[in-house]
Amino acid sequence: MQTLDSLLVGLRAAGEHTRLRILALCARGELSVSELVKILGQSQPRVSRHLKVMVEAGLLERLPEGAQVFYRVSDEAMVSRLAQALVALIPASDAGLKRDFSRLQQVRDARAKQAQDYFQTVAESWDSIRSLYVPQRQVEAKLLEIIGTDPVDELLDIGTGTGRILEILAPRVGRGVGIDLSNDMLTVARSNIERGRYSNIHVRKGDMYRLPVEDGSVDLAVLHMVMHYSDYPLEVVREVARVLRGGGRLVVIDFGSHTEEKLRSEYQHHRLGFTDSEILQCFESAGLEYEQDIEQLVGDPLTVKFWQARQRQRLHTLNPALQAHK
Ligand SMILES: C[S@@+](CC[C@H](N)C(=O)[O-])C[C@H]1O[C@@H](n2cnc3c(N)ncnc32)[C@H](O)[C@@H]1O
Repeated sequence: MQTLDSLLVGLRAAGEHTRLRILALCARGELSVSELVKILGQSQPRVSRHLKVMVEAGLLERLPEGAQVFYRVSDEAMVSRLAQALVALIPASDAGLKRDFSRLQQVRDARAKQAQDYFQTVAESWDSIRSLYVPQRQVEAKLLEIIGTDPVDELLDIGTGTGRILEILAPRVGRGVGIDLSNDMLTVARSNIERGRYSNIHVRKGDMYRLPVEDGSVDLAVLHMVMHYSDYPLEVVREVARVLRGGGRLVVIDFGSHTEEKLRSEYQHHRLGFTDSEILQCFESAGLEYEQDIEQLVGDPLTVKFWQARQRQRLHTLNPALQAHK
């Protein structure tokens, strides 16, 4: 909750020329320290000092990603209102800020180029795998049909890759976070998200076995074409169960069990798809309730499966009868 003191801390942290510039820049997207150094034309220690104060005041969020750390305006409700109010008051016509924004555009162009170069190296293998099953737009249409119109506040896209699932679900969710282990993929996703029109989706570095997400905070988790990289699917599902809210859903989209050995030898798939009973057993062992009806899109030679489960309603308070025995 916002107190008078935390409001003062926020105002003091923002009350400096460079920090207002940083706020205006980070309000337009996530930026690393080195990118901010480039845009602001100040030394790294100086920029880092400003960032530290702003993070401590809750104005900015710090997102470590490999050797880099990205910063963005916090979306923690009260502080973000202060940050947004300040950003709205910053005159975009200021000559110094105009220079900052034009350097920001150069940083973005460089990122997009880096993302494109990397994606070029994987695109061919993705195309080759995609030729083995139904067109991707059919998979996406089926996912949208399955998600339906239930309200989703918090979406978690695990193994987000290019961020495609975040982008197609963005209009239906309050906030979407994509997690990926690969820094290169995160560069691609971030660049795609910046080009798109949604401000409610973000990506961050993380491992599906140790999601950087609080317990019981997610309404919908999606694992789209990621599980086949896992040697321990049950551990992944258990980790997802930890972060799901009571009633929250998990949708796993992956290949049914197959014999295309080249996906293992050439494309590093750890598993050649899954049988229904393997995945349902994982759901059961992780304490999730699962759908018996499994949607699928039959392709040649690969079939895409949609396995769905829900977290049971959690008991938030201890039963008073049990409390009496404590
Ligand atoms: C085939 S891509 C799928 C991307 C995305 N889900 C989509 O629908 O386009 C698999 C992604 O899983 C990521 N990945 C693999 N192992 C992971 C792990 N342990 N934790 C998080 N992401 C992982 C890879 O970096 C890659 O971006």
